[in-house]
Amino acid sequence: MDRIRVSLLGSTGMVGQKMLTLLKNHPYIDVVNLSASKAKKHFKYRDAVNWVEHGDIPEKYRDMELVSTDPEDHKNVDYVLSALPPEAAEETEINLIKNGINVISNASPYRMDENIPLINPELNYDHLNLLKNRDIKFVKNPNCTSTIMSMPLNEILKLDYKKITLTTLQAISGAGYTGLPYMGIDDNIIPYIPGEEEKIPREISKMFGFANNERIINRNLNMFVTSVRVPVKVGHMGIMNVELNEDIDLEKFKNNLKAFNPLKGFKNLYNAPEKPIILHEEENRPQNMIDLNNGMEIHMGRFDYHDHNLRFIVLGDNLIRGAAGITILTLETMKEMSLL
Ligand SMILES: NC(=O)c1ccc[n+]([C@@H]2O[C@H](COP(=O)([O-])OP(=O)(O)OC[C@H]3O[C@@H](n4cnc5c(N)ncnc54)[C@H](OP(=O)(O)O)[C@@H]3O)[C@@H](O)[C@H]2O)c1
Repeated sequence: MDRIRVSLLGSTGMVGQKMLTLLKNHPYIDVVNLSASKAKKHFKYRDAVNWVEHGDIPEKYRDMELVSTDPEDHKNVDYVLSALPPEAAEETEINLIKNGINVISNASPYRMDENIPLINPELNYDHLNLLKNRDIKFVKNPNCTSTIMSMPLNEILKLDYKKITLTTLQAISGAGYTGLPYMGIDDNIIPYIPGEEEKIPREISKMFGFANNERIINRNLNMFVTSVRVPVKVGHMGIMNVELNEDIDLEKFKNNLKAFNPLKGFKNLYNAPEKPIILHEEENRPQNMIDLNNGMEIHMGRFDYHDHNLRFIVLGDNLIRGAAGITILTLETMKEMSLL
């Protein structure tokens, strides 16, 4: 398969718009169908969307006529990329799969199914091998915060640790375009995000799980999460504290993070960052305003280590690393693994 034809469900939402921005000049992925909610079927994309991405709606998508989410409207593609809300995704995605259509999805239903890979490519692209003998492929992306916060854990889980404590400061865009009323979050901090504190350790334990030929066996994790919504538009930050049973060399640990790049052997991964983890030495970094630049990288800083306690900050773009970017990187990786 030289070129990959895709449909995008939820194309008018935050993740959908980001996906179109990332795909507009893609060398081998073509978006051939767009859809949104039922009432917008047959609308031109430009009339259906409230465009909030930087710059104009890409010319090639402006006049596309929206289709439904029904399988018959997606028989002409290799993959459906789904950015549907969870309620709509559950039935729609299974219906597509039952009708022989491959799906890569951002939505939460079935993320914890032991037969369905939950992919953050740098961490667990090997779980995609589960799909090798399947005619129809169904892949899930983790939740945006799980995706970002899991990136440094590859190095943590090599250590003898007692407990990981994570506090997340999550951007408004993580709740979708209509997710949070302005009056509720402007000049405010909300110390609770429904479902998030359970989802993050659960999904990370699956991402770092062991995949045999049939299913994924989750890894045991001792992780405690507190999630807080803060009034920034884009970028989820996490403060991570790790209690260790062993003494570590902090410089060596940081060098391992800098060198982390399991995908470097693959070619043609246009959404794979050259350096997946960028370290900052300045005491006031990383910052959303300074460091996030529409990239797939995650940023880390504020390292401290004493008496077997390790602390650092993690920051990533929830719409790119947390959603649109990993959907596309997963598809690119599947092509390189000859799994399409
Ligand atoms: N935002 C993030 O940072 C993030 C990160 C990771 C994962 N996710 C997940 O990605 C998915 C999309 O998130 P989002 O932030 O882009 O949400 P969003 O801004 O609310 O967009 C939702 C999209 O789905 C469409 N839609 C709504 N109900 C539908 C229905 N019943 N049938 C068909 N289409 C429907 C909407 O179309 P209309 O324009 O017609 O309403 C819109 O295009 C969600 O499952 C979310 O949990 C989001």
